Amino acid sequence: MPQVSTPVDFPGGYRAAPSKRARLDAERYTSPEFMAREWDTIWTKAWLFVGLMEDLEEPGDYFIYDLGRESIIITRTDEDRISAFFNVCQHRGNRIFTNEWGSVNDIACPYHGWTYGLDGRLKKVPDEDRFAGGVPCAERSLKPVRLDTWAGLIWITMNDDAPPLDEFLGLIIPQLAPYRFEKMRLVKHQTVHLDANWKTLKDNFLEQYHVDFIHPQHASFVDCCNSKNDLWPFGHTRTSVEGFVTNPRYGIPSEVPDLMKMGLQAIGLDPDAFKGRVPAIREAASKQKRKIGEELGFSYSEFNDDQVTDVYQYDFFPNLFMTIKAEELWIYGPRPHPSDPNKCFFDKWTLQIPAEVAVDKDRGLALGADPGLLRYENDDRPEHDVFTQDDVIAGKHTMTITIDQDIYYLRDMQAGMHSRGFSHALLNEDEARVQHFHDWVDVWMEDDPFRRQVQSQAAE
Ligand code: FES
Ligand SMILES: [Fe+2]
Repeated sequence: MPQVSTPVDFPGGYRAAPSKRARLDAERYTSPEFMAREWDTIWTKAWLFVGLMEDLEEPGDYFIYDLGRESIIITRTDEDRISAFFNVCQHRGNRIFTNEWGSVNDIACPYHGWTYGLDGRLKKVPDEDRFAGGVPCAERSLKPVRLDTWAGLIWITMNDDAPPLDEFLGLIIPQLAPYRFEKMRLVKHQTVHLDANWKTLKDNFLEQYHVDFIHPQHASFVDCCNSKNDLWPFGHTRTSVEGFVTNPRYGIPSEVPDLMKMGLQAIGLDPDAFKGRVPAIREAASKQKRKIGEELGFSYSEFNDDQVTDVYQYDFFPNLFMTIKAEELWIYGPRPHPSDPNKCFFDKWTLQIPAEVAVDKDRGLALGADPGLLRYENDDRPEHDVFTQDDVIAGKHTMTITIDQDIYYLRDMQAGMHSRGFSHALLNEDEARVQHFHDWVDVWMEDDPFRRQVQSQAAE
């Protein structure tokens, strides 16, 4: 059975299927005018993931989220509250924080010393009596940005009229509840500067048509031919890919492929026991994970069987992907460049369940794909590695073999968009998520993405 893509509406009357299909012409990837309209209609209107609550443990901890020409301070105001403010002083507009993160008692502008509380309130103005008429402190407090949190993840929107975050995420929230992201720990944080439009990168991660060609290794541990895709309102989508299986396009091997052997050994299964029985592995792996999970202290009881073995990739419109396994979460996606449509920044946060519940060194057991990365309770936060596309191509930095393989092609894709010999893309059924994403780009740019379906008065 080939891939199946199904539109699914969200509660609250939000429809999944847009009214018209977008044409993916080259201009949408290359034009500064198109980019400027995206800023006004998408980036300043949607909810955006900005970072992790685990980076804001104490009051005064902050980090900066840069997006296009904006810079936003995300800080823990007190024990119970996280706030966001535009990173701009209300005296004469200086950018206040230039460090990516830190910990402060107050938010102080270095230029003339205006000082704001962690709640953004202006509380100290040097030589205040020299301002004729005084300083209206309430008006001159830091400008807040709407913020919400879900499962240890922090989101902001610059749009006061956007629906609440839980409406924007709709069905996604209950689907992902068993994963308990808030209990996972950051093990890697990376950003690569790419020579590609942000949507060129998006398109790459929205289809698996390219997998056989640039990720040949995948054939030995996942089935990317028969994925199931959900197409959701606002442009969000999901794909589910079976794990602990081989790609049926190449027939069923009698031997267990090497990459799958490693996965089996990690959870204490003998690969030789599956010689000639490769299709039995998925169910056996699921049972074994549940068994050793209980022993190690990581319970799979909230997960259904598919969630124990399979890989889900969610795309949150506009720019965030999550690749989700029971033990590991990748959060990744592009941020637009401030001015150049041919560039973007690609961030990736890798989270895993804590080492304490993932490994038993004595017995050689490890839940999760990459036990080498696991972080113990007292380990420091990983550095934020920032590097270039050329660093990845030269093998100096890696974002995993799979993503490196993707990155290799992005510059060539972007270059091709500028050719007189290319006008627009032709997509197949297995690229339905690419089409859905662009259909919704057009809704955001030309229409009201938050329009609700009018309930029919006539009873069915
Ligand atoms: S611009 Fe910040 S104190 Fe003057
Ligand atoms: Fe890929």
